[in-house]
Amino acid sequence: MYVFTLSLFVILVIQQTSGFKEPECSRYHYEEQILERVVRMGMEFEYQKKDVTNILETVAAKLDAFSKELQVLKRENEELKSSLRDEVQISISDLEKVKEKSFLPFIFFNSKNVADTTIKAGHTIVFTETLVNDGNAYDNTTGIFTAPEDGIYLVSLHMCVKNKQNLYYGLVIDGKESLRGEMYEYRAVTCNSVQQLLTIKAGNRVWIQVYVKDVVLLQSANHWNMFSAFLLNKG
Ligand SMILES: *[C@@H]1O[C@H](CO)[C@@H](O)[C@H](O)[C@H]1NC(C)=O
Repeated sequence: MYVFTLSLFVILVIQQTSGFKEPECSRYHYEEQILERVVRMGMEFEYQKKDVTNILETVAAKLDAFSKELQVLKRENEELKSSLRDEVQISISDLEKVKEKSFLPFIFFNSKNVADTTIKAGHTIVFTETLVNDGNAYDNTTGIFTAPEDGIYLVSLHMCVKNKQNLYYGLVIDGKESLRGEMYEYRAVTCNSVQQLLTIKAGNRVWIQVYVKDVVLLQSANHWNMFSAFLLNKG
């Protein structure tokens, strides 16, 4: 509208200042021509206005659509972020489970020598001198190893008996024998080793016991009595 008003004003000003020297009739004709032009310009302006309005409407509609798309994208982005976060958390907890499962605690004890070499039938052999006690599961005052974990353990026993002595021994788990045997020496001095692979539950107690009759063990700098266990695998 401003453009239209301005053009009209300019035309009128030009007309006023240019100082027409022509006769009255032609001046009237000229003014008619100008008026006609002004009307035409006005119509053109109306058309252009319409075009501009159309363009503006189109732009506004596009902007609206664009803003909606942007909203959708933002929402999708948020969803993606949160689902990604969930997945990362799931994989971290999976990894922790795997780590926990595969982690093998170091459990190993090795204890030698008895306080008294004469051991009565029915008694536990207490190996008092603890060389290794990783996991702190062996008690050298009771001779009992308490398994800290469910797992497969290698349990071993090394015993020396005096000449003409019978050692009836048992490897006991929570009061139940898992192994029984006898060692006997006649006119010889030897030590014997016994190994056993055992599945032991966490909290189960393991010890060595003498059966049948009392025994006198041989024990010296060159004859060691020893009890040990080692966790090989969890589960
Ligand atoms: C008995 O075990 C305790 C605790 O593990 C340890 O401190 C001590 O040295 C052991 N005794 C011997 C004689 O090894």
